[in-house]
Formats: sequence, structure tokens, C-alpha cells
Amino acid sequence: MLSQKMADALNAQVNREMYSAYLYMAMSSHSAEKGLKGFANWFMVQYHEEMLHAMKIFEYIQRQGSIAVVGQIDRPPAEWSSPLDMFERTLEHEKKVTAWINDLMELAIAEKDHATRIFLQWYVTEQVEEEENDNDLIAQLKMIGDDKQGLMLLDRELAQRMTTVPTDFSKGVEAAMEAQA
Ligand code: FEO
Repeated sequence: MLSQKMADALNAQVNREMYSAYLYMAMSSHSAEKGLKGFANWFMVQYHEEMLHAMKIFEYIQRQGSIAVVGQIDRPPAEWSSPLDMFERTLEHEKKVTAWINDLMELAIAEKDHATRIFLQWYVTEQVEEEENDNDLIAQLKMIGDDKQGLMLLDRELAQRMTTVPTDFSKGVEAAMEAQA
């Protein structure tokens, strides 16, 4: 059983994760338009990760007997000045997500909601990985600088990224994650 305050805060996070998916969809589209198909792939894989993040909370809210709200998703930007700009904006966004997850954790602790606190631990760990990935790519893009050949090589590397999270949630998110483990 969630308090109304906790349910509202979790629903707000579902919306933010959906926005994250939307943002990475936009970055994937922008990359494809620039001929960077590997970057487009990387961001589309990230889109699937964000959908999992959103749907996992969505399902948790329902399992706790509360209403999972489907709200309006803001329109993300559509233009970035360079691949480095995209990843710097990505890191900036992920830092905000980390702060929101920390706020949710603080609320769960304040409300002595141990189930939600344990549930949120997965997100705390996940955010470390998200920021690490972005930091690594920012460092590589800074090293590449204006070297077009370096950018092409990185694009080829990013084309190898595969989706490792479940994408079919029809039988439940946790069930899909367990089936994949
Ligand atoms: Fe769902 Fe990238 O945080």
C-alpha cells in the first residue's frame, strides 16, 4: 500500500522516464539524419532501457494497489550542435534523473515505506551505470575532437550495442525481466 504522496511521486517518475525515452528517440532520429547510424542505434537501445524504467515503476504502482497514471509527455528538443553536445545534454539529463530517484528514496525513507525503498534500490544502481556510460562517451568524443575518421570508428562501435532489456511487457515487467535473467 502506497501513500497518496508516494503514489503521486512515483507516477511523476513514470512520466520522467517516458520523457527520457522520448528524448533518446529524438536523439536517435537526429543521429540518423546526420548519417550516424551507430549513434542512432545507441540511442534507440537507450530508448528501450528508458521504457523498461518507466514500465517497471508503472507495474509497481499497480501491484501496490494504486492507480498508474498515463500523463502527457513533454516534447523533447530536436536539434543538437554535435555528437558531443548530445552526450553532454544526455549526462545533464541523467544527473537530473539521479536527483529525482534520490528524492523518491528520501520520501520512501521518511514514510517508512520499506517496500518502495527496496524497489528503488535497483534505480539507484542503474543510475550509476547510466552516468558512467555517458561520461565514457563524452571522454571519447573529446579525444576525437574534429577527427572525422575517429567519429566514423566510434559510430561503427556504437552500432554494435544491443538491447539487453525486455521489450515485451504484455505478461508483466518483472516476469519479463526474470525470464531474461
Ligand atoms: Fe531512466 Fe536514463 O534514466
